[in-house]
Order: sequence, then C-alpha cells, then structure tokens
Amino acid sequence: MEEKELFISIYEISKAVTSSTNYEKNLRYISNILTTLTGFDNVLIALKEEDSDKIKLFGNSKNITFEKGEGIIGKVWKHGIPIVINDITKEEFFLNKTKRNLDSYKNKKVAFIAVPIKIENEVLGVLAVDKSNIRNEPLDKYVKFLIMVGNILGQSIKLISKMEKEKRKLEEEKSYLEKQINMLISKSGIDGIIGKSKQILEIIDTIKKISNTSATVLLTGESGVGKEIFAKAIHNLSERSDKPFIKINCAAIPENLLESELFGYEKGAFTGANSTKKGKFELANGGTIFLDEIGDMPLLLQAKILRVLQEKEIERLGSTKPISIDVRIIAATNKNLEKMVYEGTFREDLYYRLNVISIHIPPLRERKEDIPLLIYYFLEKFNKMYGKNLTISKELLEYLQNYDWPGNVRQLQNTIERMVILSKHEKLDFKDLPADIKNKLQNIKTVDLKNKTIDERNLQLSKTVQEIEKEAIEKALKESGYVIKEAAKILGMTPRQIKYRIEKYNISFKK
Ligand SMILES: Nc1ncnc2c1ncn2[C@@H]1O[C@H](COP(=O)(O)OP(=O)(O)OP(=O)(O)O)[C@@H](O)[C@H]1O
Ligand SMILES: [Mg+2]
Repeated sequence: MEEKELFISIYEISKAVTSSTNYEKNLRYISNILTTLTGFDNVLIALKEEDSDKIKLFGNSKNITFEKGEGIIGKVWKHGIPIVINDITKEEFFLNKTKRNLDSYKNKKVAFIAVPIKIENEVLGVLAVDKSNIRNEPLDKYVKFLIMVGNILGQSIKLISKMEKEKRKLEEEKSYLEKQINMLISKSGIDGIIGKSKQILEIIDTIKKISNTSATVLLTGESGVGKEIFAKAIHNLSERSDKPFIKINCAAIPENLLESELFGYEKGAFTGANSTKKGKFELANGGTIFLDEIGDMPLLLQAKILRVLQEKEIERLGSTKPISIDVRIIAATNKNLEKMVYEGTFREDLYYRLNVISIHIPPLRERKEDIPLLIYYFLEKFNKMYGKNLTISKELLEYLQNYDWPGNVRQLQNTIERMVILSKHEKLDFKDLPADIKNKLQNIKTVDLKNKTIDERNLQLSKTVQEIEKEAIEKALKESGYVIKEAAKILGMTPRQIKYRIEKYNISFKK
C-alpha cells in the first residue's frame, strides 16, 4: 500500500467526522473506508460503554464486550498503547471473539493491529484491524496511520457525546418545565390561574364554593395580584358563564360619563343623546358585572349603585321607568375601603353590601412559593409566543424568588416577557434582569444588618425597601421622560400607584 492511499483514507475519514454528528453513521462509514479504501481485511471498533467497566464492539449484534486486560483489545484498552501481532494464528492472547474463520487465514499471514481511540490521556475505546501481509512489508506505517485515525475518532466521539449530553440536559430541563406547568395547572384546577401557596389554594377553594351563588363578592389586594382573573374565574365557574361578563373600570371613566355608562340613557336625556342606549348593567343582564377600582367611584354614584344592589333594578338616564335586572356584582379595589369609610370617602352602607363575600389576594411577596411556578408558566407562555426555547438559570430563579415584586404578578409577567424578548442566549441569567430589579437586589444585599436588634433590622430593611422603591420610581420617571404612564409600564405598576408614591416619597416631578 502506498502512503498516498493512506493519506487519501485519512482525508476521507476526517471529512466524514466533521460533516456529520450522527455518530453511528460515522463509525460505519469509517469502517467502510478502512476496508474498501485502505484495504484492511476486518475492522473492529470497541467503545467504552457508559456506566460500565467494559468496552463493547460497535456494530456487532452479539453484544461482544471486553474486560480491561482481556485479550489483545482489552490490553490496548487497559494500557492505552498500540499492540501489533504479526500472525494471528500463532498468538496465544488472541481470543477471536468475533469468530472469524481462522482456517482461511492460515496461508495469508494475517497481522492484527490494535490501537487506542484516545483523547488526551483518556482511552475511549480500541480500533483494531486485520491485515493480510503475505509480502512481509513493515507494519509501522499502518500503526501510525491507525493511531491517527484513533485520534480523529477520539476527538469526534468526545465532541458528539458532549453535544448529546447538552442536548439531553436541555431536553430534561424542558420536560421538567412542562411537568412543573402541568402540575401547577392541575393544582389550581382553573385554567390560567397559577399557584400552589396555601393562600391561593384557599382562595380557589372559596371561589369554587361561591361561584354558583349570586352573592356579591369584594376582591381586595394590591395592584397586579390577580383580582381581575379571579373575578373572571368566578364568572366562568358559575351558571352565568354563558352570559356576559362586563367590566367597568370606575377609575378610568370620567365621573360625568360613568352614570350613563352604567345605567344607559333615553333619547333626549341630555344634549347629544340622539338615541336610546343601554347601560352596562342592562347589557350584563343574566351575567356578571365587574366593578373594578370601586374605591374610585364618586360618592354620588355610590348611592346609585347601592340602590341597584338593594332593589335589583335600574333606571336609564332620562327615564323613570325601572328596569329589573339580574346581575351578579363582583367589585375589586386596591384601596383600603374600611379606612375610606372611616374617612368618609366611601359609603358605609355600600361597603357592607359589597362585602358579603370578601376575598383578599395577598401580595406576591407573601406567597413566594408561587413565584417559581409563575416564572415557569410565563416562560413557557412567552417562549411559545416569541418562538423561543429559553430556560432559566437556578441563580436567577432564586433571585427572582427573593425579590419583593411591588407590582406583583403583573410586574413578574412583564419582566419575564421583556427578558424573553431581549435575551440573546439559551438560558436566562442574572445579567438578563432589567436594571431596576438588579439594582434593588444589590442594594438590599449590601445593607449592613449586622449588630442591630431585630426591630432595628426590620426598620432598617423596610426603610431600605422604601428608599429603593423611591429610587426606582425616580429612575423610571427619568427614563420615560416623566410620562407617568410609561414609568408605570417600566415598573409593572399602575399610573395611580406611581402618582401615589410620587406624593408619598415627595419625588420632584419636573417635566
Ligand atoms: N395566579 C395567577 N396566575 C396566572 N396569572 C396571573 C395570576 N395572577 C395574576 N396574573 C396575571 O397578572 C396580570 C395582572 O393580574 P390582574 O389584572 O388580575 O391584577 P389586578 O389585581 O386586577 O391588578 P390591578 O389592581 O392593577 O388592576 C394579568 O395579566 C393576570 O393574568
Ligand atoms: Mg385589575
């Protein structure tokens, strides 16, 4: 055999391993090259099995394995050096596990060359060939050649197995994610409501119990905790679910329009009332009306709502004819209505009418065990939405779980969405966090809490959180060019929350 032919074989082999990551196909192809092109009589490739101390012959249906030191192949594997036997038929260590017909080798003087498949000092397997050698040519050029092939194989095997490991890890993470999501969806039992904390499970229990009554429900809780999705869930679980669910945002509609929105009007009731229009109460007939931000309802209108609750009838503006209606009322607020009653800004009688069934949804920071579930849920949701396949690092998960989420679930949802959109890697990490959250966490961590009494520490911590909040709002305002609505978006808060805090922290608000 000419050196040139060996060279061509090496070229073909290296081309094969670099062009495909299909490991079995590569090995079969290389075996073929070694027999047809290089002219060896028989090619054996034995590779270390995962989690085992043996090497196993590749591509042999009989599952032939070798222990360390067993036969020639086992010896090459054990010592990591090539072994050459000039005549197979005369070698006592030769085991012939593949049962070649040695009689046919008798007059051919068949040599056996076995070399390690190596990467650095790790032996991954053994490559062995039979070479009939009637003309007694020196074998060392074949040994050198096979060592080269062994090294190429070693590199490619290592690379492919690393890739496969990573792929497997990714797949495991993905199925873990899917499992988590299935688990948590089945846990709450309500589509789209995620949570496993005691508080949330209790709320779910309550709404399942009360959904089929017509009792008025008052949902309270900070902004973004989920008041609206719980209101919808109550409606969806009720017999009214095929009737309308109509939401009225009492804070968003100007006071002079709110009444006509709610009760409708007759043609000519006021200038501009060119035709009769049904109000939301009438439109919701048979269904549910959701009075969002009820704490912002003007006192005058509170009296009228009270009347609807008592009489179960309404009058359109400009009419004195009562229309009886059957609606379930769910009200929500992030205000402290009791305090408002005390201060005289909310009617006491209406408060008691609304507060038949009262459900308080605690802020996210008081039910931190819900945070990872929500993160996985939103990650999956936005992965799908944006055609990505992102996972999340453990460190980031921990950080997010310890963050206090002033904008609650809405802020968490916005944060994940933003990270999914902006991330350029496969895995979300600490560096992908929006700056405001990152900074806060770092600030909290660097506060010196040592050598303080517990009360002092709590005071210090809450003071710090407030300072941090103030800073975040100042920063968001600056970033948004002092547009409150935009700043609110950045922080996952409502404009009203921002306004409230601007006053509370005395933030200078320059345009
Ligand atoms: N438990 C939850 N599972 C899944 N998504 C949730 C959950 N809680 C809240 N969300 C989501 O968070 C966002 C905010 O929720 P929602 O609008 O119900 O809050 P809210 O209490 O009405 O806030 P606000 O007082 O600001 O109106 C919504 O997109 C909602 O779907
Ligand atoms: Mg809401």
